[in-house]
Amino acid sequence: MSQIQPIDAVVYHVLPDFIEHFFDEVSGSPIRVDGDLYTYEKQSKNIYWVKNIWNKPFIADFDSISDAATLLKNIQRNWAPYTYRLARRTHLIKEKLPYISDKPKPFPYFAPQTPMGSFTLIDEHHLLASASCSSPWPCGSIQFEEDHINPPGRAYRKLWEAFALAQKLPQRGERCIDAGASPGSWTWVLASLGAEVLAIDRAPLAPSIAALQGVTYLKHNAFTLKPESLGPVDWLFSDVICYPPALYEWIAEWVEKKLAKNYICTIKMQGKAWDAATTAKFANIPGSTVIHLHHNKHELTWMLLQ
Ligand SMILES: C[S@@+](CC[C@H](N)C(=O)[O-])C[C@H]1O[C@@H](n2cnc3c(N)ncnc32)[C@H](O)[C@@H]1O
Repeated sequence: MSQIQPIDAVVYHVLPDFIEHFFDEVSGSPIRVDGDLYTYEKQSKNIYWVKNIWNKPFIADFDSISDAATLLKNIQRNWAPYTYRLARRTHLIKEKLPYISDKPKPFPYFAPQTPMGSFTLIDEHHLLASASCSSPWPCGSIQFEEDHINPPGRAYRKLWEAFALAQKLPQRGERCIDAGASPGSWTWVLASLGAEVLAIDRAPLAPSIAALQGVTYLKHNAFTLKPESLGPVDWLFSDVICYPPALYEWIAEWVEKKLAKNYICTIKMQGKAWDAATTAKFANIPGSTVIHLHHNKHELTWMLLQ
């Protein structure tokens, strides 16, 4: 008979490339470390530099592989294994759980509403798990069926992922601003959805993108354009490479003047450090989400959706 013991803590599935940022954010010392899983006492602030957060972890003991699968299935359907120890045994438990497809997803794709749990084996007869996790993707990872022909870069994957999380897309004819648009893979996504896109950048769009129906290009510094000269718009996107405070100042004006309904912006960190103060300012805009997407690099994504 399995025993489930809740732990009064949180498990962070860290991003090895940004572990120093994570250590910057968390307070205290880890209670336990299992590969990339760091268990800490509950934190009083948001933690951004992680793949996934296991919100309600527990440790359970089990006799057999079947027992482990049964105890998880009795809680909910979806469980993603994080394999650190005992790879074969972990795989055998996974095989006995309901199937979760890890195939690349076609776009448009919306995050499933059913909870995605995570588990890992800590020894042959104990697992660490959480039914509630911050990411709807298995272990915080999602792959899309990529388009290697039409977009002029791969940045479109982070916009696809943001839309998948938002469960919302620009509609045909909606007005979008794409700031820092060059070479144009975000603009390509928006135009493909039938939106009207004003693509702003000091650098040109790829000719194939500039020629798309619904796309207008404006060669300009986005931040010297006043919101009232461009808006109102349905969506404001920014993937501008800049110091985060420059983006924040511009965005704060849009928000204050209520000239955009929805926002998806990349907060790009400059150099090796990250700008915690400006990230907190973005997060403090009411209704905001700040997240490290699977497809983000040294950057976070800020979203504000109507
Ligand atoms: C990462 S790229 C954008 C990639 C684009 N989202 C795509 O999918 O192809 C960043 C862009 O920001 C532009 N940029 C930097 N500062 C800018 C500014 N002040 N105003 C407008 N564009 C700017 C750069 O020229 C560069 O093209």
